[in-house]
Amino acid sequence: MKFHYSVAISAAIGALVASALLVQVRAGGDKIAFPENYAQGQLYTTFDRADNKQYREYYTSAAALDAAKKGQPLPSGTVITLVQYAAKLDAQGNPEKDANGRFIKTNVVGYGVMEKRTGWGTEYPDNVRNGEWEYQSFTPEKKVNEKANLTGCFNCHKPLDKEDYVFTYDKMKSAAK
Ligand code: HEC
Repeated sequence: MKFHYSVAISAAIGALVASALLVQVRAGGDKIAFPENYAQGQLYTTFDRADNKQYREYYTSAAALDAAKKGQPLPSGTVITLVQYAAKLDAQGNPEKDANGRFIKTNVVGYGVMEKRTGWGTEYPDNVRNGEWEYQSFTPEKKVNEKANLTGCFNCHKPLDKEDYVFTYDKMKSAAK
C-alpha cells in the first residue's frame, strides 16, 4: 500500500515538474519580439524541405556570420530568423521545381526565431538549457504561435552544443564575407 502510494505521488510530482518546465520555456520565449527587420540582415542560406513541402530562408546579422567564420560562438544579440514558405505544388501535390531544381516559394506559413543574449537561459536545468539561447515561433501574422512546443526546440537543437546550437553554422561560415 505504502509502495503504491509513493509511486502515485512521484508520478504526480513528475507531471508537475514537466508542466512547470513547459510553462517556464513558454515564458522564456516571450523575451523574443518578432524580428521586424530580419530581411535587412543577410539571407545566408535557403533549404528545400521535401518532408513538409516547405521552402525555407535563413537570415542573421553580418556579425553572427563573421563569428561563425572564425569558429567562435555567435555574439550576444544574435537573432536567427527562419522563414517558412509553402512550396508551390503541381497538380499531383508535389513541389514544383524552378530552372535550378529548387522549390518555388509561395505564402509564408510561419517563422522560427532564436535569439541569444548575455545572461539568458540561467533558469533552465542543464538537460534543457541551450547556452544563452531562447526560441520562439510566430504565425504568418507575426504573432506568437501559442500552439508551438518550445521545449521541442530546445531538445532538438541541444545536441549541437559544439556549433552553438545552430544547425546551419557551417552555412554561416561559408556565407561570411
Ligand atoms: C526535430 C528537430 C527540430 C525541432 C523540434 C526544432 N528545430 Fe529548429 N532546426 C532543425 C533543423 C534540422 C534545422 C536546419 C534545417 C532546417 O531548417 O530544416 C533547424 C534550424 C533552425 C533555425 C535556423 C538556425 C539553425 O539552427 O540552423 C532556427 C531559427 C530554428 N531552427 C528555430 C526553431 C524553433 C523556434 C523551434 C521550436 C518552435 C525549432 N527550431 C524546433 C531542427 C529542429
